Amino acid sequence: MNHVANMKGRESGMPEESWWDSFFDADATIRLFVGADGIHGDTVEFGCGYGTFTLPVARRCNGTVTALDIEPEMVARVQHQAAVTQLKNIRVDLCDFVANGTGLESGSQTHAMIYNLLHLEHPITLLQEAHRILQVGGTLSVMHWRSDIQTPRGPSLDIRPTPEQCRTWLKEAGFRSIQTVDLQSSCPFHFGLLATR
Ligand SMILES: C[S@@+](CC[C@H](N)C(=O)[O-])C[C@H]1O[C@@H](n2cnc3c(N)ncnc32)[C@H](O)[C@@H]1O
Repeated sequence: MNHVANMKGRESGMPEESWWDSFFDADATIRLFVGADGIHGDTVEFGCGYGTFTLPVARRCNGTVTALDIEPEMVARVQHQAAVTQLKNIRVDLCDFVANGTGLESGSQTHAMIYNLLHLEHPITLLQEAHRILQVGGTLSVMHWRSDIQTPRGPSLDIRPTPEQCRTWLKEAGFRSIQTVDLQSSCPFHFGLLATR
């Protein structure tokens, strides 16, 4: 492990939880990304925040969902939610994945999630780590705030990546097929991409 300074992504703090939740139909979003069949294997979520998407994905995944965050209160929050809802396939780790990586084995994950985070300083490093831990044929879902319309929240426009920018980064990180996922019905302020390793 590489012990360097805390590398929490810029403008990646969370607003009040009920306001954040009001932006998404999280169950419907996960359904759009992973389909009716769900995920057969393990999933990792980079920057789980309040667990808005962790719990919905855990219900659609037959393996372990590893939820990672740098903030102890986010980790505690998701652990609590997993216990209350009795979702036993959620593992939450306090981790700075920019500085230290995820610690997960190469090729071990079927699905990875990066939601509302790709505006951080080192997007390609993060995408390369996602690529490393995904099995061949595994998928990465990416969601971010749109910059072509007004949005009630989201990082500053000068650092907010467009879908085209994300596609370029994904290709650079080694992903081979990248599809658009239309999130209009579940979170109209966001765009979605699904990339295959
Ligand atoms: C804007 S929030 C999004 C949370 C969640 N993905 C969602 O969409 O509801 C970004 C999260 O990433 C976490 N984060 C930022 N930089 C990180 C890092 N270097 N390592 C681990 N977590 C990080 C933040 O603490 C925060 O909870």
